[in-house]
Amino acid sequence: MRKFTNLLVTGGAGFIGSNFIRYVLNQTGFSGRIINLDKLTYAGNLENLADVQQAFPERYFLEHGDICDKAFVDRVWSEYKVDAVAHFAAESHVDRSILGPGEFIRTNVEGTFTLLEVARDHWKGREDVLFHHVSTDEVYGSLGKTGYFTEQTPYDPRSPYSASKAASDHLVNAWFHTYHLPVTKSNCSNNYGPFHFPEKLIPLMILKLQKGETLPVYGDGKNVRDWLFVDDHAEAIWTVMTRGRPGETYNVGGENEWENLKLVEVLCQTTALALGKDKDAFLPLIRFVPDRPGHDRRYAIDCSKIKKELGWKPRTEFAQGLEKTVAWYLAHSEWVKNVVSGAYKTWMDRNYASR
Ligand code: NAD
Ligand code: DAU
Repeated sequence: MRKFTNLLVTGGAGFIGSNFIRYVLNQTGFSGRIINLDKLTYAGNLENLADVQQAFPERYFLEHGDICDKAFVDRVWSEYKVDAVAHFAAESHVDRSILGPGEFIRTNVEGTFTLLEVARDHWKGREDVLFHHVSTDEVYGSLGKTGYFTEQTPYDPRSPYSASKAASDHLVNAWFHTYHLPVTKSNCSNNYGPFHFPEKLIPLMILKLQKGETLPVYGDGKNVRDWLFVDDHAEAIWTVMTRGRPGETYNVGGENEWENLKLVEVLCQTTALALGKDKDAFLPLIRFVPDRPGHDRRYAIDCSKIKKELGWKPRTEFAQGLEKTVAWYLAHSEWVKNVVSGAYKTWMDRNYASR
């Protein structure tokens, strides 16, 4: 089992990064330090880690800055003697990438390149270190009604977001083969759970339900996504980081496919029950709206490699995970109010005001 002392987490103030930090510090027996390097964009919120900051003042550190800033990354690396990286930092929302791809190329491609170069400078010849890249199933493109993405599926990204993640995956693989940088990679399906930024389907719908607003379902609602509870993803990443083979990619998924429309219907019912309403009270709020350009039809992950090789499997039953998530959002209105009121609001006003 691989061991680390000083773990650099990029993008740790975002949705998955913050859940990962909480998971590692509380549930893995890891006894070292975590350094969270985050630019705190609209998607990064320190409130996501308020409990961690309080519980681990001597083992959790925040470094506010940009992964594209080489001098800054270099300083953090030296100061904390980084010996492992879990690289989450990215622009992560497909719709935003369609409206403004530039920031996706900068952070996801140039940012990953910068991190890899600093890792190469600092870790020359070392084998007791690891750079883990957190990636997405979207790099594989779009499936028809049947079939699954395996680690051998050729890359076929369709959106600016997935193209930028595909590029970053290729960089990570290249640094392994060319410079022998010890790397691992995981490509995961759609996550859900607490601290998910309410621009993404599940939290967006929960908030709209709370406000009694209509629920925008893109196209015919028959696009399929494979949903995984975020703690299960955190466990998968930790499993790969501690036991995965260098240079390898592991697909991670929930084995839990849902058509968007069906999922929104279930969310309506789960939220109605949580609010003490009739189960079907919210269904009339569903509206079909114009489709996302280039909308991938179906994602489905074959995660048999990580299951067989490393013994990981998705644990959270979907109905329970959704109930937990709905309950969390209903109990955290203050968090929601805070995260949607800053840079996010400005961007939405600019891009969506006229719609
Ligand atoms: P998120 O948008 O919630 O968080 C991204 C974090 O990165 C934020 O804290 C943000 O402040 C930070 N960040 C952005 N640009 C930065 C920069 N230039 N320098 C430093 N920090 C920066 O994203 P998420 O949903 O938590 O996704 C995390 C990672 O997991 C991403 O790499 C994403 O591609 C990948 N992923 C996400 C999902 C999903 O369902 N959300 C699934 C598979 C893979
Ligand atoms: O598959 C992994 C990916 O999952 C991650 O790499 C991305 O970072 C993450 O954002 C997510 O991408 P999606 O585009 O699948 O997630 P999103 O929540 O934006 O949309 C899920 C599905 O719901 C998708 O088919 C589009 C649809 N949708 C989304 C929104 C926001 C709607 O129908 N209505 C909506 O309002």
